[in-house]
Amino acid sequence: MSKDILCLGIESSCDETSVAVVKNGREVLSNIIATQIDIHKKYGGVVPEIASRNHVENITYVVKEALEKASVSLLDIDAICCTYGPGLVGALLVGVSTAKAMAYATHKPLVGVNHIEGHIAANYITHPELEPPYLCLVVSGGHSHLVYVKDYTEFEILGKTRDDAVGEAFDKVSRTIGLGYPGGPIIDKLAKEGEPTYHLPRTYFENLDFSFSGIKTAVINLMHKEGDKIHIPNLCASFEEAVTDVLLENAMKAIHELKLDKIAVAGGVSANSYLRERMKKLGEENHLKVYYPELILCTDNAAMIASAGYFNYLKGERAGLDLNAVPNLKIGTRFG
Ligand code: KG4
Ligand code: ZN
Repeated sequence: MSKDILCLGIESSCDETSVAVVKNGREVLSNIIATQIDIHKKYGGVVPEIASRNHVENITYVVKEALEKASVSLLDIDAICCTYGPGLVGALLVGVSTAKAMAYATHKPLVGVNHIEGHIAANYITHPELEPPYLCLVVSGGHSHLVYVKDYTEFEILGKTRDDAVGEAFDKVSRTIGLGYPGGPIIDKLAKEGEPTYHLPRTYFENLDFSFSGIKTAVINLMHKEGDKIHIPNLCASFEEAVTDVLLENAMKAIHELKLDKIAVAGGVSANSYLRERMKKLGEENHLKVYYPELILCTDNAAMIASAGYFNYLKGERAGLDLNAVPNLKIGTRFG
């Protein structure tokens, strides 16, 4: 039997400082997440400089706790994997610098991980049987991509948003309605008490790209026009329905074109209960296997980074100590 491989993952691309230890890319031994949501809430969104400072304050404790919880020492780790993009540059640098220092001190291999590829890999943890190829709908606060996952480290972007990311649209709509940050979980909850009675536009292109700014602007205009008369739960339900219609219509086009039989969803918005319900139905109607990560692995966490890092490590990918943060890193590109 081959030896188990332990990867330590570090995630600091936005407002979560997280460190995890994952065995063989699929089994979580620890996944510590220090969230800064309460700090950024009062500003209505993430303030990059405040995020970086909090990562600096948290990272050492989070590393220590992740190792303790996994009952391993740093010397037991086979590879140190960190998110190096995309994300906020100052925030990313904290995780990258920590990983480099640890790799230097222990002579362990350093592996750079793309944050979006990490979100996709969250599904390998929840579904140990999942193997490529499949289609993945990546819907997070900063990204909305339709990705053809050809292999564990091979990706093709089939469509992407031309303006707002889905999570960004949830957050902006929530702010307009006065529901606070982050908008996704609040809209998710309120929509369950409402019906989709408001008509909102759906935008499609000749290719598989998305656009969510029209839906968002229509909600903002409705709020300005009708103000107090708006039925908030119904508006939330209408917004979720419009966004989900567009996501699933494009996803199905890709499934048919590529003749795939598996679809996964990933990223913060994959926690959305309405989207999960519609995905499940879509799977049943079209004989598709549907995968979504467990809730804690939908939003930013380091277990998904350790999992993606494991597959990069198996492929022989190693980063040098000159690894840098790449704020606009594209999926499928490799540095180091
Ligand atoms: O993946 P993530 O943690 O960060 C990025 O990589 O961007 O995603 C955060 C986003 C936020 O926009 C948040 O509002 C959204 O995920 N989100 C949700 C839900 N939970 C978090 N959106 C819809 N429904 C949810 N239940
Ligand atoms: Zn993320």
